[in-house]
Amino acid sequence: MSFRTPPAPAAAYVEDVAPGRGTLPPRAWYASSDAKPLSLNGSWRFRLSPAADAEDDAFAAPGYDAGHWAEVSVPGHWVLQGHGAPIYTNHLYPFPVDPPHVPTENPTGDHLRVFDLPADWPASGDAVLRFDGVESCARVWLNGTELGEFKGSRLPHEFAVGHLLEPAGNVLAVRVHQWSAGSYLEDQDQWWLPGIFRDVTLLHRPAGCAGDFFVHASYDHTTGRGTLRVDSDVEGRVTVPALGVDVATGESVTVPVEPWSAETPTLYDGVLATPGERVPLRIGFRTVVLADGLIRVNGRPVLFRGVNRHEWHPERGRALDPATMREDVLLMKRHNVNAVRTSHYPPHPAFLDLCDEYGLWVIDECDLETHGFTEQGWRDNPVDDDRWTPALLDRAARMVERDKNHPSVIFWSLGNEAGTGRGLTAMAEWIRGRDASRLVHYEGDATCRDTDVYARMYAFHEEVERIGRGLDGGPRKRRALPFLHCEYGHAMGNGPGGLADYQELYERYDRLQGGFVWEWIDHGIAHPELGFAYGGDFGEELHDSNFVCDGLLFPDRRPSPGLVEYAKVIEPVRIDGGAADGTVRITNRYDFAGLSHLEFECLHQVDGEVTATARLTVEPLAPGGSAEVELPPAPDGRGAEVQWTVRARLAEDTPWAERGHVVAWGQGTVARRAPAPAAAGVRPAADGGRITLGPAVFDARTGALRGIGGVDVTGLRLDVWRAPTDNDDGAPWQPDVRYGVLWRALGLHRMRHRLDAVEAGGDALTVRTRVAPAGRELGLATTYRWTSDGTRVRLAVSVVPEGDWTVPLPRLGIRFGLPRADRVRWFGGGPGEAYPDTRAASLLGRWEATVEELQTPYVRPQENGARADVRWAEIGGLRVEGEPEFWFTARRWTTEQLDAARHLTDLVPGDTVWVNLDHGQHGIGSQSCGPGPLPRYFLRAEPAEFSFVFAPSPG
Ligand code: GAL
Repeated sequence: MSFRTPPAPAAAYVEDVAPGRGTLPPRAWYASSDAKPLSLNGSWRFRLSPAADAEDDAFAAPGYDAGHWAEVSVPGHWVLQGHGAPIYTNHLYPFPVDPPHVPTENPTGDHLRVFDLPADWPASGDAVLRFDGVESCARVWLNGTELGEFKGSRLPHEFAVGHLLEPAGNVLAVRVHQWSAGSYLEDQDQWWLPGIFRDVTLLHRPAGCAGDFFVHASYDHTTGRGTLRVDSDVEGRVTVPALGVDVATGESVTVPVEPWSAETPTLYDGVLATPGERVPLRIGFRTVVLADGLIRVNGRPVLFRGVNRHEWHPERGRALDPATMREDVLLMKRHNVNAVRTSHYPPHPAFLDLCDEYGLWVIDECDLETHGFTEQGWRDNPVDDDRWTPALLDRAARMVERDKNHPSVIFWSLGNEAGTGRGLTAMAEWIRGRDASRLVHYEGDATCRDTDVYARMYAFHEEVERIGRGLDGGPRKRRALPFLHCEYGHAMGNGPGGLADYQELYERYDRLQGGFVWEWIDHGIAHPELGFAYGGDFGEELHDSNFVCDGLLFPDRRPSPGLVEYAKVIEPVRIDGGAADGTVRITNRYDFAGLSHLEFECLHQVDGEVTATARLTVEPLAPGGSAEVELPPAPDGRGAEVQWTVRARLAEDTPWAERGHVVAWGQGTVARRAPAPAAAGVRPAADGGRITLGPAVFDARTGALRGIGGVDVTGLRLDVWRAPTDNDDGAPWQPDVRYGVLWRALGLHRMRHRLDAVEAGGDALTVRTRVAPAGRELGLATTYRWTSDGTRVRLAVSVVPEGDWTVPLPRLGIRFGLPRADRVRWFGGGPGEAYPDTRAASLLGRWEATVEELQTPYVRPQENGARADVRWAEIGGLRVEGEPEFWFTARRWTTEQLDAARHLTDLVPGDTVWVNLDHGQHGIGSQSCGPGPLPRYFLRAEPAEFSFVFAPSPG
């Protein structure tokens, strides 16, 4: 005999493809001046159960005693508050794919909150209960009455509740299921984090309140006039005092205005007054069109210098507070970012207020991704299955209705990586019908059937150039569209490389309207033992490791070198060497703004030390304009190196940065340094088991350096290994060769050093070696030739590859250990790290840092911290000069330890400081999800010679 218990009907809604039941129609998100909200954020009672129907709904009834339950903070995710654990997968669903079914093991959080109405809560009028975001499915009761249920995690849902409210003791009960049919539509590459993670608010709705309204504010660049019309469900008047506007809703008015743009975010304060309430408006006039194959705002094509932003906080996950949102916007503005794609869901609405206010172009993306279906050739993809279309339309409507009054939003995006299908077309048609004033974006359809732009992700430079030149072919519709690189420059670990090369293409070809770096911030989770945790750190059976840490900011929002590089690459003023010596060319690369908000200064430096500064006068330059500007005369360097640096700084405080903030800079070399005088003439002297050569002492048998001028030096020898970066390792699905993998397979991390000869003759000590990995015939014939003038010692290294080297080298240089070193001073590129294709922001000068400060804290440890173009450096009592310039790295652990570490907390400082002086470094690229380094950044295995002069240094 067998029994089969059908799923409890009470929880059937969890697997229902319908978006929900009982909610109000979506509408604009706004705060009214007189209808006060009551925030229900705070501490809620919480009970976690293992299945959707493990508990009955008795808890929703008034009088239920939840005194023994746990407590969680709302907004928040219970898995970040000690209940259950987060799961990270990129595109794989963390449950069997059998839509719309979800696992029986469905963590379900019952949330309970008892609240009183404030004493001044009006006796009349209605009330609305709003949830701004709940993952992934919620069922709601107020005072024992069931209100309904909803899905659509990052979208608002409202219920009418006025008839149920009591002055005191209201019981709000919310049952949240981690998995639901909605989860199939929310397969974004991020942590799965259930919970009520955005605000819960009770809104009083007076009789005659505004309800929904739509602000239409366009700008005619040919007349300089704006046209305003506010459509409102409830009639009323619209006033904009600064414009002298006072019109009825539904009526148009045209007046001279300053337009809104991301560079000049002029907002006009207005009021929509209906019989029941006054709603403050912030109106930005702008017109977005697709014309002549280009995205134009207010008549001009725009170049997007964008980022993809997920919402992230290392402790609170996607429950962001206003200060964090503001910090994101300020950091973006200070790093020259002008656009955000809200990957891959509408953000907290307050973020869009900030974009309006500070000025950022926004691609507002719908909460839709079904990427996991790619594993089955997109079979059963919900976006191509009519049963799901109501849910898709519901999501589109909730986004558009909520966000339609933001001038910053210029694109609606249908979602991300959801394949193709009728559902997407239905969404696009609905959106165009509702709001013809914005363009539609979606990346996943090569035909561009539903879009106004040809969007791609991670296209290689070569292809981007082909697209720019219109030689990419493709369907007819697509050929006429502008191109947006909606994701590129995968900022995972060290990198991304190649940003400057992309930017050059975007600026060269009109059709290329820029891109959005993937992504804004690492989603590392603060962890007591691991520092920042990533996929797999919570025992997930299926996960994608540190692919979740691929941002321009570290999880704690410190800018990574990638952001500093990006800020330089996209700077809105280009400053470079002029046609004649003693001049610079200054180009205005804003789309709308002049340069009057900037002041220009010139600094001259001799051997890296600034000797003179002067103001530069730059004539007013319209967008696109450029001028040749004369520099003050350069100082006579008397054989030393001379550089000019021109900086464009804010002339006044702005809302996002203070006066003096550097927006752009350029640097040029006037005189190159003279070669260091030869360090030769003294003969090596044998002394028992040692050989002395000027200040240096060697082991007579092995030729190994023992010390220089009283500073012990250990293990000096050729080094070709670097702890592979995420971009060296690449992503497994990459079709191209992944050098990080090949390097290891070849054994470059375990090179052996065979000693062939130690020759002390004439005025040199020569040590001949062969450096090669076990099991291979490849090798590097390496000769170290030491000479000295008595006070300094020079090492000339010569490397000749032997065998068939088909791979580039990770690095080529020497490494050695010093017993003591704290501070480093150097003349070269700085202040931050740089690699061959990430060096735009490296500024020549004199810099100083501790060994600790030289480390870049990539969440998964890997090669980092090199300083480029170093002429000389002082560390641990030694001064080293390079001929030619070198890459400098120092750390308190070996490369092998760095390579073995999984988290920063695995790196334990040892007694020795390991220094690498590199003749070459291989490029970084972006192969963790995109192209590897361009061939011109390869470090090819070729014969090489380089030298260093060492001398004892004070300090
Ligand atoms: C894209 C995707 C992003 C992210 C990125 C890799 O394919 O749209 O969500 O997964 O790749 O980090």
